[in-house]
Amino acid sequence: MQIETAKRIDQIPPYLFAEIDKKKEEMRKKGIDLIDLGIGDPDLPTPKPIIEQLKKSSDDPRNHRYPSYEGMIEFRTEVAQWFEKRFGVKFNPQAEVLALIGSKEGIAHIPLAFVNPGDYVLVPSPGYPVYRVSTLFAGGIPYFLPLRKENGFLPSLSEIPESIAQKAKLLFINYPNNPTSAIAEKPFFEEVVAFAQRHQIIVCHDAAYSEVAFGGYRPPSFFEIEGAKEIGIEFHSLSKTFNMTGWRIGFAVGCSEIISVLGRVKTNIDSGVFQAIQEAGMAAFRHFDTPLPEIIDIYERRRDVMIRGLREIGLEVDPPKATFYLWIRVPRGYTSAQFAALLLEQGGIVATPGNGFGEEGEGYFRMALTVDEKRCKEAIERIKRIKF
Ligand SMILES: Cc1ncc(COP(=O)(O)O)c(C=O)c1O
Repeated sequence: MQIETAKRIDQIPPYLFAEIDKKKEEMRKKGIDLIDLGIGDPDLPTPKPIIEQLKKSSDDPRNHRYPSYEGMIEFRTEVAQWFEKRFGVKFNPQAEVLALIGSKEGIAHIPLAFVNPGDYVLVPSPGYPVYRVSTLFAGGIPYFLPLRKENGFLPSLSEIPESIAQKAKLLFINYPNNPTSAIAEKPFFEEVVAFAQRHQIIVCHDAAYSEVAFGGYRPPSFFEIEGAKEIGIEFHSLSKTFNMTGWRIGFAVGCSEIISVLGRVKTNIDSGVFQAIQEAGMAAFRHFDTPLPEIIDIYERRRDVMIRGLREIGLEVDPPKATFYLWIRVPRGYTSAQFAALLLEQGGIVATPGNGFGEEGEGYFRMALTVDEKRCKEAIERIKRIKF
């Protein structure tokens, strides 16, 4: 039989990391020792008390049944308490908090709740690829907001044409930012609230990296701004905060109507997060203050090794205040893809070409600080040996 794919699939390029994985596999088969700085997946283990709680909770038969769609009220209450302690913002756990199977799940589903075919969605470029793809799946049209160094990698909202803003349903923002590692302060969020109110746009703030920040810096929540709760939703994740990427648990907080419609989409698609994992998530918030110093200190040391080395080599990079990403300019004469290929082929180093995050990422590549310090040093030595 002729297998015909849906048009929506034809529109979508293969997931960025799936392509890189294919290349990595080829190199590994050739016996090359790869240093993988390509994907933002912490190499460090989940802290022990969280694992212990999962072991205990998985023995309880009450946790073997379908979970509630929106998440256990105990989990949502724990989340609301953490949020108030961390950001000073109160949420009603019943109506304003929703458990997610990782924040990616919520981000992927939200356009289905609010975007009609032909509606615009404002999407940062470069940006986490799911914003664009989830928009396309819903039949929406992504309108790309360039993130440029001269603007601190913040979108310039005043440059969005009035005709687009009027037809836009959602605005995605993400700070601390992947892939640029930029941060946003409250005045930017204030601008976003005013813009969203003026144009009746729902703000989707992706805060997956809010707890990966250095030197005592505490990234703010979008909801610290007055008026944000009427127009926004914020996605959070336990993945990077507690080294739990494989566990699949995150949550959304925000305007009760927005949360409720996203919940309605989810009830028709998934059946919630395994309760034992929710209980382990509760243990994470109970046991630890975030950001976790033991995790942050390790990334900070790796960051410093890499920044020093890359600068010695003559590459242009700013030390990030948050996230475990380095956003580095490619040397003159190379495209992002060419330079990433050079690193892979001549250095056995996996880095992500910036254009994989959107057109405006061209001219950069991203490295994740997800290998130990020794391997970071080795990566620098290998890059030093490459001629470019
Ligand atoms: C910006 C951003 N948002 C969301 C996610 C998804 O994280 P998770 O689904 O594990 O919560 C990631 C993962 O890399 C990310 O980089």
